[in-house]
Amino acid sequence: MRKILVTSALPYANGSIHLGHLVEYLQTDIWVRNQKMSENQCIYICADDAHGTPIMLKAHELGINPEELIEKNYKEHCKDFSDFYIEFDNYHSTHSDENKEYSSYIYGKLKEKEDIISKTIEQFYDDQAKMFLPDRYIKGECPKCGAQDQYGDSCEECGGTYSSTEIINPISVVTNTPPITKETEHFFFKLSNYNDFLKEWISNETTQPEIRNKLSEWLSEGLADWDITRDKPYFGFNIPDTKDKYFYVWLDAPVGYIASFKNYCMKHKINFDEFWNKDSTTELYHFIGKDIAYFHALFWPAMLEGANFRKPNAVYCHGFLTIDGEKMSKSRGTFFNARTYLDFLEPEYLRYYFASRLTSKIEDIDLNFDDFQSRVNSDLIGKIINIGSRCAKFVNKDFDDILSDSSENNDLIKECLSRKEEIIKNYELRNYSTNVRLISSLADKINKYLDTEKPWVKIKNDNDRVLVQKICTDGLNLFRILIGYLKPILPNISVKVEDILICEPISWANLDQLLLNKKINKFKPIIKRIDDEDIKSMKNFNKGEKL
Ligand code: MSP
Ligand code: ZN
Repeated sequence: MRKILVTSALPYANGSIHLGHLVEYLQTDIWVRNQKMSENQCIYICADDAHGTPIMLKAHELGINPEELIEKNYKEHCKDFSDFYIEFDNYHSTHSDENKEYSSYIYGKLKEKEDIISKTIEQFYDDQAKMFLPDRYIKGECPKCGAQDQYGDSCEECGGTYSSTEIINPISVVTNTPPITKETEHFFFKLSNYNDFLKEWISNETTQPEIRNKLSEWLSEGLADWDITRDKPYFGFNIPDTKDKYFYVWLDAPVGYIASFKNYCMKHKINFDEFWNKDSTTELYHFIGKDIAYFHALFWPAMLEGANFRKPNAVYCHGFLTIDGEKMSKSRGTFFNARTYLDFLEPEYLRYYFASRLTSKIEDIDLNFDDFQSRVNSDLIGKIINIGSRCAKFVNKDFDDILSDSSENNDLIKECLSRKEEIIKNYELRNYSTNVRLISSLADKINKYLDTEKPWVKIKNDNDRVLVQKICTDGLNLFRILIGYLKPILPNISVKVEDILICEPISWANLDQLLLNKKINKFKPIIKRIDDEDIKSMKNFNKGEKL
C-alpha cells in the first residue's frame, strides 16, 4: 500500500474562489479520488493562505480586522469547495499555531546553518500610510517604454520587468501620494547555498520538462538572495528575535502544507514524522499553477533541505484557464466566481469538462461554453448516462426490478474491463482527457450493442423475454463499469448510480464483480441537460454584477 500526501496551492484568503482556481482543485481532487479507489492511503491537504499586504489592506478598507476577513473567507472557500465535491482531508489556514511553530522552526534551522543574512536596503515608504510599499503598491511610468500607470515590478505595455526604484514618477497606490525612500534592515535566505542541491533535485522525476528548462536557466545564472522580511504594518508572523519584522507571506505559505498536515495528524492520530522525516518512504506531490513554479521548485525544496525535511517527489504544474479563448476579465464579464457558476449550473458538468481537457502538460486550457454544453449534453448525458436509463427502463417495467442471473455479451464486458489498468494509469499520469475519450469510445460500443439487439423490439415477442432481460442486465453492468471509470471525475453521479443499482461503492477492486440475479431500484433522472438558457443567464448575471 502506497502512503501518499497530496496538496493543492493554498488560495489567498482575500478573494473568492473562481473558475481558474477550480482547474487546480479539480485536477487534484480527481487524482486523489483515483488513489482512494485503490487500496492506497492518500491524504489531501490544503489551507487558506491568509497573510500578506493585500489581506491587510482589504480588511482595513472594509473596516474589519484581518482575522475577521480571513474567517469569513475561510467559510466561503470551504463551502465553494465542498459544493464542487472537492474533498480535502484537511483544510486549514496559514494563520494558525501549527504554521507559526513550523515557520519559526524552519527559519531557526536555516539561521543555524548561516543561510540567513541581514542587509540594509532602501525601499519605498508611504509616509502618510506609514508603511513600506511592496512593488505591486507602486505605480508610475515604465522606465523602458514610458507607458503610464504601470506597476512597480513590470509593464503591461512592453512586458519589461524592473525594480520599483527604477520606475519614473512613482506614486503609492495606497494613498496616491509620491513615496519617499527609507532604509530598513531585511533578512535574506541565501539560496545560492543550495545551488548544487537544487541542480540535483530538479534533474530527476520532480518537475515537468518546461519547468525544468526554465529552472536550469536560473540555476546556471546563479540564484539571488531571497528577501523573506516585511516591515510593520504587516499581517503575518513576527520573525523570532526581532521587533516589527514579519515573515514575507511566501515564506510561511508553503510551510502551511506541513502545518495543515500536522493539524490533520493531531485530529486523526497519524504519525507526522513518517511523512516529513528526511528519509520518509511516503510520497509527496504538490499540484500548482505555472505562475508559482519557482516558489515550489526552488525556494521550497531549498527550505526543506535546509531544515532537514523530506522533499516532494514531484511538483505537478498546470496551465491557466481561459474563457472562450481569452484571459478571464472582470470588465468583459468573463471572470466567473465559483459561486456564480453554482447558482446556474451543476458542479459535475465542470468536473467532466475540465477532465476532458486536462493533460499532464502545462498548456493553458480553454473553457468554451459551446463545447462545454455539447460535450456534457451529447457525450456524458446522451451517450453514457443514456445507457443506464435505456436498460433500467425494461428491468424496472418488465422484470420486476430484477437482473437476470447470467450475462449475454461476455466479450463486451471483458473488453470494457480490460481497460481498467490503463485507465488507472492515465489518472495517475494526469492524462484525464485520454480517459474521457477512452470511456466515451467504450460507450459507443455499448450503445452499438444495444442498437443491434434492439430490446425495445424484442420485448414485444414473448419468446425473447429472457434474452431482453439479459441484454439489459449486460447494459446495466456495462453502465456500472463506465460510471466506475468516471468515478474520480463524477463522484456524486457515481453515488446516484450505486444507489439505483443497489451496489457497494465502486472501487478498483470490486469493479469486476457483475451484478446478477438481484434487485435494483427504480431509475431516477441522474442529471439534467444543459439548456442554452442556463449559460445565458449565468453570463448575463455576471455582466450585470460587474457593472
Ligand atoms: N497563495 C498562493 C499559493 C501559495 S501555495 C504555498 C497563490 N494563491 S492564488 O489564490 O493566487 O492561486 C491558487 C492556485 O490557483 C495557484 O496554483 C494558481 O496558479 C491557481 N490559479 C489561479 N488562477 C488561475 C487560473 N486563471 N487558471 C488556472 N489556475 C489558476 O498563488
Ligand atoms: Zn513598458
